[in-house]
Amino acid sequence: MSTTTDSSGGMSAVTLRDTPGPRGRLLTGSMRDFQRDSLGFIEEVAIRHGDVVRYRMATMWWYQVNHPEGVRRVLQENNHNYPKSNLTASILRPVAGEGLFISEGKTWLRQRRLMQPAFHRQKIAAFGELMTDAALSMLDRWDHRIDAAAEMTRLTLDVATDALFHAHVGEEPETIARAVSTLLAEINHRFQVPFYPPISVPTPRNRRMRQAIRTLDRAVYGIIEQRRRDGEEGDDLLSMLMAARDEETGAAMSDRQLRDEVITLFIAGHDTTANALTWTFYLLAKHPEADERLRAELVEVLDGAVPTVADLPKLPYSRMVIEEAMRLYPPAWITDRQAIEEDEILGHRIPAGGHVIISPYVTHRLPTLWENPENFDPDRFSPEQVSTRPRYAYFPFGGGPRQCIGKGMALMEAHLILATVMQRYRLRLAADQPVEPQPTVTLRPRGGLPMIVEPVS
Ligand code: HEM
Repeated sequence: MSTTTDSSGGMSAVTLRDTPGPRGRLLTGSMRDFQRDSLGFIEEVAIRHGDVVRYRMATMWWYQVNHPEGVRRVLQENNHNYPKSNLTASILRPVAGEGLFISEGKTWLRQRRLMQPAFHRQKIAAFGELMTDAALSMLDRWDHRIDAAAEMTRLTLDVATDALFHAHVGEEPETIARAVSTLLAEINHRFQVPFYPPISVPTPRNRRMRQAIRTLDRAVYGIIEQRRRDGEEGDDLLSMLMAARDEETGAAMSDRQLRDEVITLFIAGHDTTANALTWTFYLLAKHPEADERLRAELVEVLDGAVPTVADLPKLPYSRMVIEEAMRLYPPAWITDRQAIEEDEILGHRIPAGGHVIISPYVTHRLPTLWENPENFDPDRFSPEQVSTRPRYAYFPFGGGPRQCIGKGMALMEAHLILATVMQRYRLRLAADQPVEPQPTVTLRPRGGLPMIVEPVS
């Protein structure tokens, strides 16, 4: 035990263990190692230094919390002390305004309460058919060779557009899809290149981003206005958000807030689900025994029929496959927070202002929690095995009050799409070389995932 020194050089009154971590370079600390190979770096420091690791990124200290109890402390127990970081907020705010993902405090709570009912299991069950319809249209398009990553991104974007607006899209769905993809690519770039000039500076990338925001604004405000004019009440997500009323004040969301939430749902909701599915196809192609077991379940339960939401509880193995794929490749592989006040996590001092990193990619692969963590083994998600693990050994959807609002929808979507695709096709990897995960905002296969599709007889 020793007295610790905080990032500003002051001595803490609390006597706690020194937090271990890599020393890094003189000026940049661990920044270059993190940028060169983020996944390798965060996994290695966890293995080498333990539950909480401290490293310097130029002038900032980062505290990486790996142990499930530490994750619980940040996301749940003491979540009020850990709002989203300034870094995340500054990148997302120009796009998503005060949307649910980055808003804080009273604004966040009001919005979460207004939006939660729209994501209730019964409400989202109504989207089951549009999900399988979109998957079937995709399958009709498929030729011998596909890029599974690109196909899943397009499919989940189609689903998001349909779930949000149903068919009532004034602008062409293609225009919306292009704008959303541009925004996602630009957000990715900004997370990878810290200190990118703010959006007001007219760089080519900023111009592209502003153009995409204008396109989406025009589309979203146009649809809202049309609905208000026609007094139309639909059953899509936008209608539910427009109909939502604050329990205390009876107030509805303003047009600006509706726009922020719609764009947030587009950004948070499609690429994550696409990557969960892409990695699932990849792992099934690598593990023929799991592929066979899944097919046997589909034949037994569905016998060729298009799956419905009511079928899903009867397809537990398919669901376990998806959960295991998200263990090895959690689409939202990292999240960060900023401590308001000093805190203690597992005996380590987190100073006020400290930047906290949490990564399901790391915790999901800790050898102290998972036997042979690199192995793909869907049986880890049998109810018996799940009941023996700590809650925060596995958290692909985060946890605590800010847990993903779309969790139920994402799982339902992935489950329905997996069952629909696998009944029609067998997917093989087109290339023999290893597929490398690329840590952008979401975790995706670098260079896409070329696959060969063979019709199932
Ligand atoms: C497999 C798919 C998905 C994964 C892995 C995922 C993951 C996550 C994670 C980890 C968080 C918490 C982030 C943090 O704590 O910093 C989150 C939040 C969020 N997600 Fe998802 N998500 C998925 C799908 C969806 C879908 C389908 C939607 C909506 C249609 C959605 C909307 C949101 C929103 C709005 C938040 C912010 C919630 C809040 O702060 O109150 N996500 N998601």
